[in-house]
Amino acid sequence: MCIIGGVACHVPAPLSKRFFLFLSYEVFSLVSTTPASAHPSFRLCGKVRVPGDKSISHRALILGMLATGQTRITGLLESEDVLHTLAAMRALGAHIEKGSEPGCWIVDGIGTDQPTTPNAPLNFGNSGTGARLCMGLVAGLGVTASFIGDQSLSGRPMNRVLKPLKALGVIINSNDGCLPVTLAGGTDILAQAHETHIASAQVKSALMLASLRADGVTEIIEPALSRDHTERMLMAFGAKVRSESLADGRHRARLYGPAHLQGTKIDVPGDPSSAAFPMVAALCIPGSDIMLQDVLMNPTRTGFIKVARAMGGKIDILNRRISGGEDIADIRVRGSRLHGITTRADIVPSMVDEFPALAVLAAFASGTTMMQGLGELRVKESDRIARSEEMLRAMGVNVKSGPDWMQVEGTGAVWGKATSTALAPVRTDGDHRIAMAALILGLAAFRQIEVCAPECIATSYPAFFDDMRSLGAKFQIVEEGVAC
Ligand code: S3P
Repeated sequence: MCIIGGVACHVPAPLSKRFFLFLSYEVFSLVSTTPASAHPSFRLCGKVRVPGDKSISHRALILGMLATGQTRITGLLESEDVLHTLAAMRALGAHIEKGSEPGCWIVDGIGTDQPTTPNAPLNFGNSGTGARLCMGLVAGLGVTASFIGDQSLSGRPMNRVLKPLKALGVIINSNDGCLPVTLAGGTDILAQAHETHIASAQVKSALMLASLRADGVTEIIEPALSRDHTERMLMAFGAKVRSESLADGRHRARLYGPAHLQGTKIDVPGDPSSAAFPMVAALCIPGSDIMLQDVLMNPTRTGFIKVARAMGGKIDILNRRISGGEDIADIRVRGSRLHGITTRADIVPSMVDEFPALAVLAAFASGTTMMQGLGELRVKESDRIARSEEMLRAMGVNVKSGPDWMQVEGTGAVWGKATSTALAPVRTDGDHRIAMAALILGLAAFRQIEVCAPECIATSYPAFFDDMRSLGAKFQIVEEGVAC
């Protein structure tokens, strides 16, 4: 064992567009109880450009809002999560307009001007990243703002960000560490040294954003390097940031303030976390051969590719290049014979959002896959260990879990249950990654799967159905399905 850190209808295009583009998440989640089904699909092939990276999209809007002058963003992920951050940046005083090409946005930052105090709560919908990063931002801007979100976000822990912000002198009111939160930012935030107990890019980024105007060195030590897009992008906007690994494995980022950000051009690469779904589908469906174009290859995000390769996945990284300070490449993925693996805690930060997809891959591998160090998955958009376990069990896969681990017994194929059409749709708790993982499972299995509330996919991958369908995937909106 290697150890490392049928027949179906397509969703008619107009229907899928109506579902995922034109209705806001809040409106849709009230009106839709219609599940979607995924059906056994054969030999995926073709090329897809997965949507822009979610983490980079949030940051491009936030730093563009802070900068002096204009920032031109291309390839922005126009998903629910990112559009909530965009609205928040407008509420804080940035002038943001859509450019003429898809994914192009022009941000006129506030620079040294006073930010606007929002006259309504900032609504982050389902987005933990948007909410937590903007808490740091508001703290540093010295304005007062309230933060709200949907049901899932309102149950997620915010103290990981609120506590260190309180220590910086920010006045905070929260619902016992959860949303709604009201935050009165400080005008005199001092540059300080912080040490975090989890490798969280959201916490690290919130602290950096809070400290941008502070005079001196802000230092953040994390137990392991989490995604470093804030550091890279701050440098692209002209800030001085240094990032280094320490001898004991911890990681230190230093920001030399006050930072004066100058508007720039940001080209957002394809999101590796979204790419994981077509990758898993192609790896698990024999004879598949797909190409995913312009995918971000930042080493803090490529854990899933390493693991899938170590399981025997045929994945070729082609045409590597640098774009906007980030490594990108095209990825060829072919149907593969896979074997089980153990993944250790140290690889989690580089693939924290990809475990639902890995759980599906593990079900199609031969042998046991043990995933360790997954505690953070319990507090993502849903309890992703519990939801992944339920999804696999619904298709007859043996799976076990503990507080921070999950073990999947793969048998090389997933049969599904003979009575699956009579089964309840898989519960998603509105979690986009659980919905996509379950749909991919259904494409590669011998029997179909039904998935609750697929509209949640619009939070990160609005074109999921269209992209997957272009590769040969079979989906159906279950008009007379069981309401969920
Ligand atoms: C993100 C960081 C990760 C990840 C999230 C996006 C970011 O969260 O799960 O989807 O953009 O900073 P943590 O840093 O809290 O693990």
